[in-house]
Amino acid sequence: MEYRKMGRWGLQLSSLGLGSYLTIGYKCDEKTSRDTIRYAYDQGINFFDTADAYNKGEGERVLGKHLADYPRTSLVVLSKVHAAMGPGPNDRGLSAKHVVEGCHASLRRLGMDYLDIYMCHRPDSSVPVDETIRAMEDLARQGKILYWGVSEWSAAQMIRAQAVARDLGARAIAVNEPRYNLLYRLPEQEVFPTTLEEGIGNVIFSPLAHGMLTGKYRPGEEAPAGTRAADPDQYGVIRSLYWNEDNKVKGQELVRLAGEMGITAAQLAIAWCLRHAAVSSVIMGATSVGQLQDNIRAVEVDIPAEVVARLEELYPPVG
Ligand SMILES: NC(=O)c1ccc[n+]([C@@H]2O[C@H](COP(=O)([O-])OP(=O)(O)OC[C@H]3O[C@@H](n4cnc5c(N)ncnc54)[C@H](OP(=O)(O)O)[C@@H]3O)[C@@H](O)[C@H]2O)c1
Repeated sequence: MEYRKMGRWGLQLSSLGLGSYLTIGYKCDEKTSRDTIRYAYDQGINFFDTADAYNKGEGERVLGKHLADYPRTSLVVLSKVHAAMGPGPNDRGLSAKHVVEGCHASLRRLGMDYLDIYMCHRPDSSVPVDETIRAMEDLARQGKILYWGVSEWSAAQMIRAQAVARDLGARAIAVNEPRYNLLYRLPEQEVFPTTLEEGIGNVIFSPLAHGMLTGKYRPGEEAPAGTRAADPDQYGVIRSLYWNEDNKVKGQELVRLAGEMGITAAQLAIAWCLRHAAVSSVIMGATSVGQLQDNIRAVEVDIPAEVVARLEELYPPVG
C-alpha cells in the first residue's frame, strides 16, 4: 500500500480507503462486512470512511464492531455530521448542539473514544460558520476529534471558513471530501486548486461513479440483478447522475483500454483518480471481497501517457 500526507497536515492516509455507504452494515451482511474490512486492513488500508447517516447509524455500528479487532493507533476513522438523524429541529445540520451531540452519538455507535477526522457532510447556510468551527475546535480540545473537514463544500465556502478559523485562532479545515471520477471532474476547476493552495487534503468519493466505470452496465441492457443500479433502494444517485446509453458505451471503451493494459476498468478508473496531485486518498465502496481484490490493485497501475490522452478524449474535463 502507498501512504500519502493529508494536504499539509501530518496524518498519513493509505492512498485507497474503504467506505461504508450502502455497503458495510447495509447491502453487505455481517460476514461480508467483516471480511471486506479484514481484507482491506490486511492489504495495508488504514483509512475507513463512514457517516452517521449511513443506514441510520448501522454503517458506523458495524464498521466499529469489526475495526475493534485492530489496534486503534493503526486506524484512521472518519465520520460525518449534517443529515437528519431524528425528527427534531436540532437533530440535523451544523449547529454547535448537533455537531457536539452528533459526535458523541457517532463515538457511541463506533465504540471509539475519538474520531481521527470529523466532517461536515454538507454545508449548512442556516448556521454561522464560526459556530460550527468553534464546535469543532471544542471537540478537538476535548480529545474527541483530531482533525475536522468538509464534504461537498464549494471553494468559496472553504476559503471563507479558513479565514474565520484564522480569526478565531481555531483549527483550519484539514481535509475535504468531494465526488470525483472520470464522469464527474468538476473539482478540477476550483476545488482542487483551492485545496492545494490552502494545504487541505482531498479524500475523494465514488471513484467508479457507483459502478458505472466498471463496464458491467452494458449498452441496450438493463442493470444486472444484484447491482446498485438494479436496486430502487440504492439507485437514486447512479440513475440521476450517470445512467444513460452514452456512458454505458464509454464504459465498454474503458474496458477495452484497460484490457490492452492487462488490467480491469475499475483499476484503470481508480488509478486515474490517484494521479491528481490534490488527491490524498480514494475512498472505495465494495459489496464483496472480490471487488476489493480487483480495485485495490489500482495502486500498482501506472497509466501510460497515450492512455491518459485517450481518457481525456473519452471523458473530457468540464468546460
Ligand atoms: N461524502 C459524501 O457525501 C459521500 C457520498 C458517497 C460516498 N461516500 C463515501 O465514499 C465511498 C465510496 O463511494 P461509492 O460507493 O459511491 O464508490 P464507487 O466506487 O463509485 O461505487 C462502489 C460500488 O460500485 C460497485 N463496484 C465496486 N467495485 C466493483 C468492481 N470491481 N466491479 C464491479 N462493481 C464494483 C459496487 O456496487 P454493486 O456491487 O452494488 O453494484 C460498489 O458498492 C462510500 O462507501 C462512502 O464511504 C461519501
